[in-house]
Amino acid sequence: MDIRVVPDTILRAKADKVKSVTRELQELIDRMYAAMKDNEVEGVGLAAPQVGVPLRLVVIEYEGFKEALINPKWEPAGEEVDEDLEGCLSVPGLYGLVKRYRKIRLSFTDALGKKHRVVLEGMVARIVQHEVDHLDGILFTDKITDWDSVEVTPLALKHPGVVEILKSHQIRG
Ligand code: NI
Repeated sequence: MDIRVVPDTILRAKADKVKSVTRELQELIDRMYAAMKDNEVEGVGLAAPQVGVPLRLVVIEYEGFKEALINPKWEPAGEEVDEDLEGCLSVPGLYGLVKRYRKIRLSFTDALGKKHRVVLEGMVARIVQHEVDHLDGILFTDKITDWDSVEVTPLALKHPGVVEILKSHQIRG
């Protein structure tokens, strides 16, 4: 299962709602968990459009939090905002500071079809906000606050789409 990288147009499309939790969807979830970890740099979250499937589905595996989020919806829980470094499997080798709500209220359906409503904060809340953006065709590079703070690894130079983004912001890799 290949991970789509910029400038793949599916990364800019709005994903469709999942209508029902089927066996096929559960298999897709398993393959997404595997694809997330089977990378030069391990991911902590992956959205279905990143593997070429235009559905509102995200998998997250970060420390104790492992969950498939089907049709996730979130809203801020409080006004506090944090700024931290983010990267993305679809934008390899580029890291930049992004502002996110520190605490959110999230509702989603899990891989067994059960509905949940939870409050999350810190890094997990950040990952959810990053991944749900993918479902709306938004990339973290759209939200980088300070391009002078961007960090680039040699991996970026293997990807023409990433080099393009860096050039458009006058960053040399
Ligand atoms: Ni991402």
